Amino acid sequence: MFWIMIVVSLLSVLGLSTASKPFDALVIHRPHVDVIAEHNGNITLLSGINGNISILPGANETGSVYFDGEDLLYLIKLVVSLPPVWEEHSPFGYVGEFHSGDRVNIQLKATDPEGTKITYNLIGGELPPGIKLDPVSGILKGLAPNTEDLFTFTIRATDAHGKQADNVFKMLIRGANKCDSNPCTHEGQCHEGNGSYTCRCAHPYGGRTCNLDCRSNSLGVRQSLRWIPDAQMTAHKSNGNSYAYSGRRDGGSWHGVDRDSWLQVDLGNVTRVYGTVMQYAGSRSYTSSYYLQYSTDGDNFHNYTVAGQLTQFSAGASTYTRPLPEPIDARFVRFHPIGWYSSYGPYMRVDVLGCHYYTL
Ligand SMILES: *[C@@H]1O[C@H](CO)[C@@H](O)[C@H](O)[C@H]1NC(C)=O
Ligand SMILES: *[C@@H]1O[C@H](CO)[C@@H](O)[C@H](O)[C@H]1NC(C)=O
Ligand SMILES: *[C@@H]1O[C@H](CO)[C@@H](O)[C@H](O)[C@H]1NC(C)=O
Ligand SMILES: *[C@@H]1O[C@H](CO)[C@@H](O)[C@H](O)[C@H]1NC(C)=O
Ligand SMILES: *[C@@H]1O[C@H](CO)[C@@H](O)[C@H](O)[C@H]1NC(C)=O
Ligand SMILES: *[C@@H]1O[C@H](CO)[C@@H](O)[C@H](O)[C@H]1NC(C)=O
Repeated sequence: MFWIMIVVSLLSVLGLSTASKPFDALVIHRPHVDVIAEHNGNITLLSGINGNISILPGANETGSVYFDGEDLLYLIKLVVSLPPVWEEHSPFGYVGEFHSGDRVNIQLKATDPEGTKITYNLIGGELPPGIKLDPVSGILKGLAPNTEDLFTFTIRATDAHGKQADNVFKMLIRGANKCDSNPCTHEGQCHEGNGSYTCRCAHPYGGRTCNLDCRSNSLGVRQSLRWIPDAQMTAHKSNGNSYAYSGRRDGGSWHGVDRDSWLQVDLGNVTRVYGTVMQYAGSRSYTSSYYLQYSTDGDNFHNYTVAGQLTQFSAGASTYTRPLPEPIDARFVRFHPIGWYSSYGPYMRVDVLGCHYYTL
């Protein structure tokens, strides 16, 4: 009531003044109340002692009071509004460890005490490549990258009043867990190592995934493989111009002179040998029995024996796979003929069976 009267008088004085000469100040005096509008733009409202000044935005309270163009209620909310509060994610903001290729889906959450909507933004550090932050939901999503690293990043939660709270997060990315797919067959044990795996194979298996049966796995003397180069095949007392490298299984055949002749294979490295193959050269030219010598250094050769007895392997006019009763670790394997069928000394075409040592 009192207020409305002031406004009315203000308007009437304004109307009066504009009609007359320019004024320096508009001054309304009521008992204990002054309203002063100065020409320089200052407005002064003075109430009497213990008086209140009220600004009412409209009779039914749906209007607004604006302060420098901003809704005064909003400004007040802004001043009293509290910043968002991050939920406890884990000690030190650690959000987890992921292996390369893992699907990441983590809800980061902050709440505003006033209940307004939060938006989330990365303001420091970096997210792992391939992981994205949804600013609306606060969800970290993506596929863990193929790298080994600890990622540290700062996320800012901002409420509708612009109040902010920051939180630092950490995410550890590891290379793919290579043993997870059970790559080792035949009950081989898988060992993680440096982004890869190795298999410790159970006897008698070998190869990178224990997929090879070492008892039948050719080490590559045979003609169709030839992993053993010609230069790694040598012989003692060859017949005529017979070459050691012809003594490969399915090759041309090596031809010795007598029982002092031998054919030697250098496997290139110490290898676990599980057996040998002896193949005939023709129905009337073959070795019928032989023994083996082996060496790791090419200098000191041992006879292959079992319980102190030299092991003699029999063969004939066909192809014979001759497993060793006990596998040996050898780089050099020598085939010594004992008996043969042919008038001109022993013929041999051989192969060596086993697995490379590092794959055992
Ligand atoms: C407005 O009022 C303030 C406070 O009294 C004063 O310091 C200022 O000089 C005034 N502005 C002008 C333009 O006179
Ligand atoms: C002025 O405000 C005080 C405190 O809110 C209140 O107690 C008082 O009644 C008000 N005076 C008038 C005249 O409205
Ligand atoms: C309240 O004010 C609004 C506009 O500000 C108007 O549309 C409405 O009719 C008013 N209501 C009453 C009951 O006066
Ligand atoms: C992994 O391999 C890298 C280079 O190949 C090497 O520097 C590092 O020491 C290896 N780490 C382990 C745990 O073997
Ligand atoms: C020979 O074997 C050893 C392990 O016994 C391995 O470190 C080395 O690389 C091998 N050499 C070749 C040429 O395969
Ligand atoms: C290996 O056996 C052969 C045939 O019995 C024999 O002549 C030779 O002396 C033996 N060599 C060794 C090193 O025992």
